[in-house]
Amino acid sequence: CLAVAGTARTVLLASPRSFCAGVERAVEVVEQALEQRGSPIYVRKQIVHNTHVVADLEARGAVFVDELEAVPEGATVVFSAHGVSPQVHRQADERGLRVIDATCPLVTKVHTEARRFAARGDTVVLIGHDGHEEVEGTLGEAPERTVLISTPEEAAALEVENPERVSYLTQTTLAVDETAEVVDALRARFPALRGPASDDICYATTNRQDALSAIAEEADLVLVVGSDNSSNSQRLVELAVRRGTAAHLIDDTRDLRPEWLAGVRTIGLTAGASAPPGLVEAVIRVLGGLGPVTVHEHEITRETVHFSLPPAVRTS
Ligand code: F3S
Repeated sequence: CLAVAGTARTVLLASPRSFCAGVERAVEVVEQALEQRGSPIYVRKQIVHNTHVVADLEARGAVFVDELEAVPEGATVVFSAHGVSPQVHRQADERGLRVIDATCPLVTKVHTEARRFAARGDTVVLIGHDGHEEVEGTLGEAPERTVLISTPEEAAALEVENPERVSYLTQTTLAVDETAEVVDALRARFPALRGPASDDICYATTNRQDALSAIAEEADLVLVVGSDNSSNSQRLVELAVRRGTAAHLIDDTRDLRPEWLAGVRTIGLTAGASAPPGLVEAVIRVLGGLGPVTVHEHEITRETVHFSLPPAVRTS
């Protein structure tokens, strides 16, 4: 297509983007487990929500299962970065599995808060997306005291046992601005509302949203590299659209549609926290094949967060 090929384009590269510290750690946990214990290493659910990461680890001997019943007794099983409910830990104990927990420490923080808030007698309002693995894990900490909501309307209509004793928690990968609206609605309904000491939406989610915000309006089109089931990647697409820029989620370069580029001079490019950095480079290469590309990286902050490996696979 002549209108698409040959056009000079600018790529505005959002930074930070791609892997967060929790994802890097989870991937390394599986790699180390394979190296130290050999295959098969079972992994409950996708270790992180990215098809490429999962396929790569599968090729190296990891076996992904949906439920613990599929893991042979006595085998090693890794719990994914999204965390699990206490019930899953109990089930693993009962089956004599050797557990390596790759739950992101920032998800563990939310679990700890859920237990603490429930223990002081509060109704715990969890703001998050129904059916997401992280939400299932967090709900499991105090199932009889926790309610899940996702919108300001649900917050406004919520009935609780004691309106003086309500606290809230959130999923780590929500949209920062939309979540603030839900919390405002909760506080309007329950003025005594208490929350976590520091935000549950994690640094990586916040940084990727801020970095995209800084370039989204300048771009004619935004591309977000990430898989369909990646919550933080989906939130990046929505953010660009709210800023008035067309946006697409692509798992890799095969999802790129040349027709998206018709009339497009400036492309905003980012990647969700579970998408490998190499996929972003590949997108730039493919765009370069469609005409001269100038890349401008726009870095809003530099991330230095690093999480040490769990003791079960720590090498030093
Ligand atoms: Fe953890 Fe946030 Fe990444 S909760 S896994 S650092 S997106």
